[in-house]
Formats: sequence, structure tokens, C-alpha cells
Amino acid sequence: MSLGRGLLSSGPRGATTKILAFGSLFIFLATVYTLFPSTPKKAWATLSSPFSSRVRGQCPPEAYADGKWVHQAPPAPNVTMTSMDDALPIVGFEGCASSREYYWHLASDRPEQWDRFPGVASWRWDPSSECEGLRPLDPEALVQDLVENGGWLLIGDSVTENHFFSLSCILYPHVIATPNYTDLPFYERHWPQNLYLSPSSPLVEYLNPPVGFNISTTPLVTFRRVDVMLSREQLVDLHHDLYDPPLGVNLFSEEAFWSLPPSQYLSIFQKPLPAANYRTMVVSTAGHWTTTLMAGFHDEAAEGGGIRRILGFFRHAMTKWADEIQAAMSRDTGTAGGRRTREVVEVVSSRSYPNIHFLGIDRPGMLRPDAHSTGDCLHIMSGAGVLEGWTHYIWHYITRELPGRIR
Ligand SMILES: *[C@@H]1O[C@H](CO)[C@@H](O)[C@H](O)[C@H]1NC(C)=O
Ligand SMILES: *[C@@H]1O[C@H](CO)[C@@H](O)[C@H](O)[C@H]1NC(C)=O
Ligand SMILES: *[C@@H]1O[C@H](CO)[C@@H](O)[C@H](O)[C@H]1NC(C)=O
Repeated sequence: MSLGRGLLSSGPRGATTKILAFGSLFIFLATVYTLFPSTPKKAWATLSSPFSSRVRGQCPPEAYADGKWVHQAPPAPNVTMTSMDDALPIVGFEGCASSREYYWHLASDRPEQWDRFPGVASWRWDPSSECEGLRPLDPEALVQDLVENGGWLLIGDSVTENHFFSLSCILYPHVIATPNYTDLPFYERHWPQNLYLSPSSPLVEYLNPPVGFNISTTPLVTFRRVDVMLSREQLVDLHHDLYDPPLGVNLFSEEAFWSLPPSQYLSIFQKPLPAANYRTMVVSTAGHWTTTLMAGFHDEAAEGGGIRRILGFFRHAMTKWADEIQAAMSRDTGTAGGRRTREVVEVVSSRSYPNIHFLGIDRPGMLRPDAHSTGDCLHIMSGAGVLEGWTHYIWHYITRELPGRIR
């Protein structure tokens, strides 16, 4: 058993810090329609628009999440699945920059599940009527923001990696991804993955990058695998301090996981140009807070095998995490992110964490059991609208909701 999923995000430096926690599905088709940029001329028109229309949004995360999926014609209704690549046009992608587990992310790796297409690409998220002014997802304008206003650092587990892959499709062909996994027989899950502005993107000549930006070294998006937000040692110490466990009771089992201490990903977040120019940290955790990994809480007789106790521990851990992130942000006037469980909401909604914003937008995803990957029900495929909805709402939130609050 594990906790529910949510995401945290942190916002622009020099402005209010934000934590965005999300975990939702969304309107993929709206995304799809704007995916194909076409000519530089059109790109130019699109690129100039964000500045003329910088209006304050009125679509808080709750209003966004309180909507419904509406059926709609898929982007390519007449394409049928005859190869794994056919999934791309069916969901409305021209391609994906990332080469990591490509067809697994597209959920086209198992022919026996091809009958999911095009149905899985036939839904659009319709937020509640309380959501006004939701900015349509415009990949070119998103590229512009990532270059000119700063990149996103994605911190989380394999579901955040799913989100990274989806971003590499939304932003294709304007970005290139590293590492190139094509010929790698072996890789480590903790390797950083990056999206860079592609030198061959037609947008390049229209962008105004900050001084010091280097197209080959300044990532627009980076994913770092951090399963439980704090390091193993930090969690072991916290467990010890809180519960004084008897000798021989260890918090962690032998199960593998990946983590970094916040100090380490904060130092990545705060790296100056040309190494980086991040403005938003998007943080998510959930799937590894389990009674199998955290076997010290396992109790067969208890509800959920001990998951309640893990929730209690999670609250303490997230408070410690938010304190550490906010302290760093306050020094740097940066931002941080949050998670969808009640514990996270309570922790990060507190006024003590002005730079951490919780985005409870996981509901759309919960309503889309068809959007899981082919091998399990934990991971989320790219192209169904769920992961693309996270990108859409986070981008809207950063560019439309937060500016109204920042003074
Ligand atoms: C798809 O097929 C339908 C029915 O066969 C046809 O009416 C429609 O024009 C086709 N659409 C495209 C885009 O080819
Ligand atoms: C990745 O590597 C493969 C195999 O070496 C190569 O064909 C491909 O062009 C590379 N992709 C990129 C984006 O460089
Ligand atoms: C960008 O970085 C690369 C790799 O470090 C370097 O070779 C190149 O000179 C840099 N470009 C500029 C304009 O500084």
C-alpha cells in the first residue's frame, strides 16, 4: 500500500516561491491542436502574444480539478495501430525528444493493448465553471517561457519521469533530450535527464534568452530521480528521533529506491547560468512510501498493513522537507512544491511556506484508468491527456495565477 500521488512545485526566484502539487489528467486534445507549430511566421505571432495578454488568471487548482472528461474526436481518427510508432499521430504527437523507454512511455509496446487507441486519445478535460481564463497550452509559448523566464526542475519518482517524457513530446521538435539511450545497453535510473533548446528549432531566432544562456549547456527541463524527497540518512534519523525504534527494527527493507537530500537538488536548482536557469521546481512523491520499502512500519494486524503509521511519518517528513526548502528559498527568494495527500496540503498550505504551492490536480488522472502504462496501473502513459494536463496547468499557474499574487 502506498500514499496517493501529488506533485509539488516551486516557483520563480526573486518572486514568491510556489509549491505545485498535482497529479491530474487533463485536456490532452487541446494540447494536441497546438502541437504543430508550422512556420516561423506563425511562431512569431504566437511568441509575441504572451506579453500583450498578461492577464491575471482565475483558475485556482481546485477549480481546475473539479471538472470532467469530455469525449472528443481523437487527433487522427483514421489511423489504426499497425506499429508501435502509430501511437504518435493517434495521440497527436509529432514525436518525442526523449529516447528512454520510448514505446513503454507511449503505451504502444504491447500489441495486445493496441485496442486502447484511439479511444485513449479521445478525451478533453473540461474544468469546472469556476475556472476562468485557463490559458490554452501552447507549446511554442511554453518553450519561450522556459528559455526566457527560466526552466523547470522536476524532482520525483518514476511517475515524474513519465511527466518528463510527456514534456519531451509536447515540446518536440523544439527540444533535444539527453542522454541518448538508443544504443545504451545499460543505464542507471538516477542519471539526470535534460531537455535543451534544439539549435534547429525555427523558434531559435525569435527568442530572447537571458545573458549567459548557452543553448548547449542550459537545460530547459531537467528530471532528477528522488523517490522520497529526503535522503535515506535523513529519514532514518527522523524515524529514530520520532519513534526511538527498538534495536534491530530498521526503517528500510532491502527494496531499492533512489533519493537525494534537498540540499543537493536545491544546489542544482540554484545553479547560475550558463549551467542552469531554473525558476520552477516541480516536486512529487507518493509511490515509494510503502509498507514494503518502509518495512519498519509494517504491521500485518494494522489497517493497510501499517500505512496509517507511514502517513504519520510522512507528515513529519514533509514538514522537515518544507522547512528546509523554504529556508533555502527565503535565502534565495525562490520557490518549492507540495503533494496531494491531506498531510501535504496541511503542511504546505501553512503561511510558513510562501514559496511552496500545492497543486491538487490529481483528480483528472484518477478518472482515467485507461491512461496507465501497459505493464502496471501505477505509471501513466504519455499522450492520454493526464501528464499533458499537469504540464498545462502548471504552466498556466506559473504564468497566470502566481503573477497576480506576486508583488
Ligand atoms: C476518416 O474516415 C471517415 C469515415 O471513413 C471519413 O468520413 C473522414 O473523411 C476521414 N477523415 C480523414 C481526416 O481522413
Ligand atoms: C541517438 O543515438 C542513435 C544511435 O546512435 C542515433 O541514431 C540517433 O540519431 C541519436 N539521437 C540523437 C537525437 O542524437
Ligand atoms: C556553450 O557551451 C559550450 C560547451 O561548454 C562551449 O563550447 C561554447 O563555447 C559555449 N558557447 C558560448 C556562446 O559561450
